[in-house]
Amino acid sequence: MKKKQCVWILNEWDIIEARSLGKTAARELGFNAIDQAKVTVAISELARNIFKYAGRGQIHLCQQFSESNTGLQVLAVDQGPGMDIEKVMIDGYSTSGGLGGGLSGVKRLMDDFTVTSSPETGTSILTSKWLGSSTVLQVISFEHTESS
Ligand SMILES: Nc1ncnc2c1ncn2[C@@H]1O[C@H](COP(=O)(O)OP(=O)(O)OP(=O)(O)O)[C@@H](O)[C@H]1O
Ligand SMILES: [Mg+2]
Repeated sequence: MKKKQCVWILNEWDIIEARSLGKTAARELGFNAIDQAKVTVAISELARNIFKYAGRGQIHLCQQFSESNTGLQVLAVDQGPGMDIEKVMIDGYSTSGGLGGGLSGVKRLMDDFTVTSSPETGTSILTSKWLGSSTVLQVISFEHTESS
């Protein structure tokens, strides 16, 4: 993938564009089909929220590195009305009559998840997925099952 990519979210077509760029980036970084799907759903939820609640904003994609691993970082930013972080992370909480599962779902699907939000600055959500993280979790739960 290119080191950094950015999509403006101004209309519903941009949500599809962000989703598609995210899928390509995840595939190029070596994520398996399941993790590509997780990243794609996460980007889609974040972009949809930007469009729905802030009207406009951006999705930034960036490759991230640790000493021994690489991953994909997704930053969703807008200058909309902001939100009550504690409330919106509760599964089922929605101010629009939606399912209220978007943000909690993104948190579950990704490995890291940080939100900052205020009425003055808008909302910024930084989330990322590391290569191979799902496999590691599967191994841990398998070992747990074996020993109990
Ligand atoms: N970018 C944002 N700016 C302001 N408020 C937001 C933003 N994103 C989410 N919210 C608030 O957080 C709530 C929960 O968002 P979440 O995506 O979890 O559920 P939802 O959008 O209501 O429903 P859905 O399950 O269809 O996504 C929203 O109802 C909205 O009030
Ligand atoms: Mg939503």
